[in-house]
Amino acid sequence: MKKILITGGAGFIGSHVVRLFVEKYPSYHIFNLDALTYAGNLENLKDIEDKPNYSFVKGDITDKGFINELFNTHKFEGIIHLAAESHVDRSITDPLAFVKTNIIGTVNLLNAAKETWKNDFDNKLFYHVSTDEVYGTLGQTGLFTETTAYDPNSPYSASKASSDHFVRAYGETYGLPYVISNCSNNYGQNQFPEKLIPLFINNIINNKPLPVYGDGNYTRDWLYVKDHALAIDLVFHKGETEETYNIGGFNEWKNIDLVKLLCAQMDKKLGRPNGASEKLITYVKDRPGHDLRYAIDASKINKELGWKPSVTFEQGLEITIDWYLNNENWLNHITSGEYKSYYQKQYS
Ligand code: NAD
Ligand code: DAU
Repeated sequence: MKKILITGGAGFIGSHVVRLFVEKYPSYHIFNLDALTYAGNLENLKDIEDKPNYSFVKGDITDKGFINELFNTHKFEGIIHLAAESHVDRSITDPLAFVKTNIIGTVNLLNAAKETWKNDFDNKLFYHVSTDEVYGTLGQTGLFTETTAYDPNSPYSASKASSDHFVRAYGETYGLPYVISNCSNNYGQNQFPEKLIPLFINNIINNKPLPVYGDGNYTRDWLYVKDHALAIDLVFHKGETEETYNIGGFNEWKNIDLVKLLCAQMDKKLGRPNGASEKLITYVKDRPGHDLRYAIDASKINKELGWKPSVTFEQGLEITIDWYLNNENWLNHITSGEYKSYYQKQYS
């Protein structure tokens, strides 16, 4: 069996990637390595945890000794690296945590792969999952392409940009076979309710204020998480090594317009009068260094690998809302403990 390591598989996107690979590729053994930080949750993978081609390993990618031993034991042939600190607001209050996991953790994995594979790179691949935020911000027009210069603005995006550079440097310097993808904002089932869409769904359910940063005229390009997982599958199997692929939803929304759409859909689902949830919108202090607009030109992955999103935003949003409404236990577990103190600090 081909041994594949997926890091961060207990998180939001990682859990969808793990499930897809475990179910689609019975000839692979999928090892899910995750430190189970506040963002990692094994409840995300309950339905596949007993599959014979799946193993969970609890561990921290910043622990060099542990990572080297893990690679030595299993001699993984492929790595799909998603483990990261992923929330911009948290990176503003604690940048060092992002340096540790996103940069040092990535370099630990690169070193372990290099040492394990020595110079035998046949059928080996280090796939680094990254973000469009490395490109910085757009004005009112234009799109990020694979050749847009890196220009990160937040500690989060600076740490992701740095990790991308290390991956490329290992390719150039040691010949390590790699591929990188840079994706836009994901939404869908199992997203931790610190990010805009699940945070606002949870607040609407609980009749709490919806804290819109600044004037709400910031733009993001939204992609349904399962479409990202399908793109990752394609890039892993068919992408060219030493290449970068941008992944996006062809789906730009100003935050305030998205929030109003979400409010309208939630009113219908909850049987509330039209306009009830919109009344919860509260404009709050802006995020420092807030990027104005992200928008991805995903024509390369579309033309070369035949990928495109499978659902419209309205469909994806409805699936997402239904999932949160039907998985109250998941939401209640995840919003207890650490979440309460985070929320208090961020929004008080
Ligand atoms: P997430 O925060 O939901 O999950 C991150 C996972 O990594 C968690 O399970 C956590 O426990 C694990 N982790 C964190 N630190 C770790 C460490 N030191 N060792 C081992 N595991 C650790 O993140 P996500 O939104 O699923 O993002 C996954 C990846 O995709 C990240 O690399 C992120 O930069 C990238 N990305 C995210 C988006 C998005 O919209 N969410 C878009 C583009 C790219
Ligand atoms: O673009 C890809 C990136 O998308 C990923 O790399 C990150 O991991 C992911 O967190 C996401 O970053 P954003 O900062 O764009 O996502 P977030 O959900 O935090 O915010 C989306 C927009 O909504 C952004 O303009 C800030 C705004 N916002 C967010 C929150 C949490 C608010 O107005 N209020 C809020 O409470």
